[in-house]
Amino acid sequence: MSVYVGLMSGTSLDGVDAVAVSWPDDDAPAMQVCAHVHRSFEPAVRARLLALLQSQPGELEHAAAAALAVSHAYADAIDALLPQAHLQPTEVRAVGAHGQTVRHRPQAVEGGFTIQLLNGALLAERCGIDVVCDLRSRDIAAGGQGAPLVPAFHADRFGAAGQARAVLNLGGIANVTLLHADGSVGGFDTGPANVLLDAWAGEHLGVAYDDQGQWAASGRVDARLLRRLLSEPYFQRPPPKSTGRDLFHLPWLQSHLATHGRSPAAADVQATLADLTASSVAGALQRHLPDARELWVCGGGALNRHLLTRLASQLAGWKVCTTDALGLPPQQVEAAAFAWLAREFTARRAGNRPDVTGARGPRLLGCLYPA
Ligand SMILES: Nc1ncnc2c1ncn2[C@@H]1O[C@H](COP(=O)(O)OP(=O)(O)OP(=O)(O)O)[C@@H](O)[C@H]1O
Ligand SMILES: [Mg+2]
Repeated sequence: MSVYVGLMSGTSLDGVDAVAVSWPDDDAPAMQVCAHVHRSFEPAVRARLLALLQSQPGELEHAAAAALAVSHAYADAIDALLPQAHLQPTEVRAVGAHGQTVRHRPQAVEGGFTIQLLNGALLAERCGIDVVCDLRSRDIAAGGQGAPLVPAFHADRFGAAGQARAVLNLGGIANVTLLHADGSVGGFDTGPANVLLDAWAGEHLGVAYDDQGQWAASGRVDARLLRRLLSEPYFQRPPPKSTGRDLFHLPWLQSHLATHGRSPAAADVQATLADLTASSVAGALQRHLPDARELWVCGGGALNRHLLTRLASQLAGWKVCTTDALGLPPQQVEAAAFAWLAREFTARRAGNRPDVTGARGPRLLGCLYPA
């Protein structure tokens, strides 16, 4: 049996999910999640990370300090995880650690790059396990988007021979995986999910998120505002493509609201944002996977009941379920993908899917900080 730990902290900036995953050996596909821990970021760490999303004086020092704080949060999550899984550090083959994205510019004219803050040396020092991190840069160096990386894992875990299926991760950003009936795989970021819903709920209700989408459900969709938001060129760009908080942030929404003319009620804006996610996902699936009728949803947004209802209404004839029904709870999927990527690195197998990211070929992803 080989055990890997996956650590993911995504664009929602809500904190870190840690899972311990066991496989019978390094080649077998069957896997089991032994334990899952979620740790929220301390408010000061979250504030520091949010501030780093824009260029600011002294940002190199702030970034280095934030990377240390993220590494301590990751190490604390591992400290809580291993006893739950009844594991000693020496029983874990490697940790796959994502880090916190503060820039994602795969197509910058001077050369693409992406920055996930993490101090791999500190994490290895604190947890005493091999740490595999910086998992996106190699794909970008090979001409790819460096994202999304999870379709390779989704294909491995959720693929069904002869059956077209879609997997949707509703994190800060929404990304789809297209599992074609012939075994080929596609995938891309469709656009914003929780990043705007959380920001608008925080601004108007002072809460971290709109629990189950109840506030959005109380509002009415402003069709003209929705059309305006959907006019963002990103939605029509053909894949491969990836995005993040570099594009979709509160000022992006506010600038559209400013040119909208009249101010809709705050709850109507929330309803419109939920439909923005549902429409952009449904449109992408109808265009790129027209023969599928199954959508499996994961990520924290899978707990947003209103959003799932809106998705199901836009995808008439589709079965829309969470990944629970496939044996993996939605909040564990992305972290499990990073455990899987650590396993691929350890077995010296490519972790990217060039058909998804647009890279020139399969590449070994990650950089190792030995225990
Ligand atoms: N009960 C709930 N109701 C509505 N939304 C929820 C609920 N629980 C969590 N969420 C949403 O899920 C988000 C966290 O999801 P998740 O951790 O998958 O996103 P992420 O960190 O951006 O991950 P990634 O980038 O890997 O996809 C929260 O910010 C919140 O918006
Ligand atoms: Mg998260």
